[in-house]
Amino acid sequence: MTPYLDDRHTAYQRLRETDPVHWEPTMRLWVVTRHADVVDLLRDQRYSVDHTNATDFVPAAQATTSMVNLDPPRHTRVRALVAAAFTRPLLDSLETVVDATVRGLLDRVALQGGLDVVSELASPLALTVLAELLGIAPEDRGRFRVWAEVLGADREDGTRAALEVHGAAVRSAFAGYIRTWAAVATGRPGEGLIGALAKPRTGDDRLDQSELVANCQLIVTAGHETAASLVASGLAALVGDSERLERLRRQPELLEAAVEELLRLEAPVQLTSRVAREDVELGGRHIQGGHEVVAVLAAANRDPEQFPEPDVCDLGRSPNPHLAFGRGPHFCLGAPLARLQARIAFRHVLERFPRLRLAREPAFRRSAVLRSPTRLEVLFE
Ligand code: HEM
Repeated sequence: MTPYLDDRHTAYQRLRETDPVHWEPTMRLWVVTRHADVVDLLRDQRYSVDHTNATDFVPAAQATTSMVNLDPPRHTRVRALVAAAFTRPLLDSLETVVDATVRGLLDRVALQGGLDVVSELASPLALTVLAELLGIAPEDRGRFRVWAEVLGADREDGTRAALEVHGAAVRSAFAGYIRTWAAVATGRPGEGLIGALAKPRTGDDRLDQSELVANCQLIVTAGHETAASLVASGLAALVGDSERLERLRRQPELLEAAVEELLRLEAPVQLTSRVAREDVELGGRHIQGGHEVVAVLAAANRDPEQFPEPDVCDLGRSPNPHLAFGRGPHFCLGAPLARLQARIAFRHVLERFPRLRLAREPAFRRSAVLRSPTRLEVLFE
């Protein structure tokens, strides 16, 4: 397994300082680590998110019609249709759900004197939010949890390899569920995103069935472990430093800025990638058309050109133009929901449990892409 994962910020720093647009000969791709270059890359339409454009494209990386894999004009159309379904009333109703879910989960552990933040708070919270968002019926939540777990399995992680075997079957079972639900939910109040997406929105336009399925599946994979990771690694950073924790307790008005700072430092999605469609200059290097280019968001988030004292956690940091949710046309559609979960979870944990401390060092998933705790045991009185 990749040794740099044990000390990834040292590796990022070395690249940022010595070779910010770096050609990696073994993997045959470019690695970009400075903030300004990552922003240029993510905004530049001469790069594609469709990896079938890559010279070294491996067909196993299946292309779908989910918006992360689409370029304009189709991306613009699909994203607008999905974004229109993320309405203000829907987001407001989710705020109530997040609040009630966090309270309920904390009630369950209140007498235990401790909890595993990942399995007892962050992950069930993210899943409940996604189920509510999509409009999954209460009786189907058990199945949904299993589907979401399997869809989120990552090839990089050997311990989850067994789940991969079931990947195709689960994908197709979930697709069937989405299609059926879309047919019955359309037009009903409280139908959630699946129902909302099944009906025409912009003029007569709407997602076709394969777009509907692919984008609902995308939301589940994009919104589960990422949001859970923000809650868990954010709490790890707070609980691991009593001064920081007390500052936030004394100044709850810092909560919003604190969430941004924890996103900057932890970056649940460490990197993303593009393919150059044509020859492009980036940071003084010549990138050949067809080559893959990796944007290391987590490295850009600690670029001293952009962030004074980049390795210091300053809960009141402002401005904070971090790239944890990406930049440009593919900027994370779920950012408001992820921020909401973190803000409410941090507030309740801090208000409820005065003497918080780590039971032992948290464990993280061995992944280059995701920075995600697998276990975070915390004690309180
Ligand atoms: C802290 C939690 C999260 C982080 C750090 C995160 C990060 C990201 C990043 C970096 C991208 C851009 C990828 C790229 O440009 O290649 C992205 C896109 C996306 N995210 Fe998130 N995400 C989070 C939570 C969520 C949630 C909760 C949802 C859904 C409810 C969601 C849905 C999406 C979707 C649909 C896209 C694709 C947008 C597009 O291609 O136009 N994300 N996310």
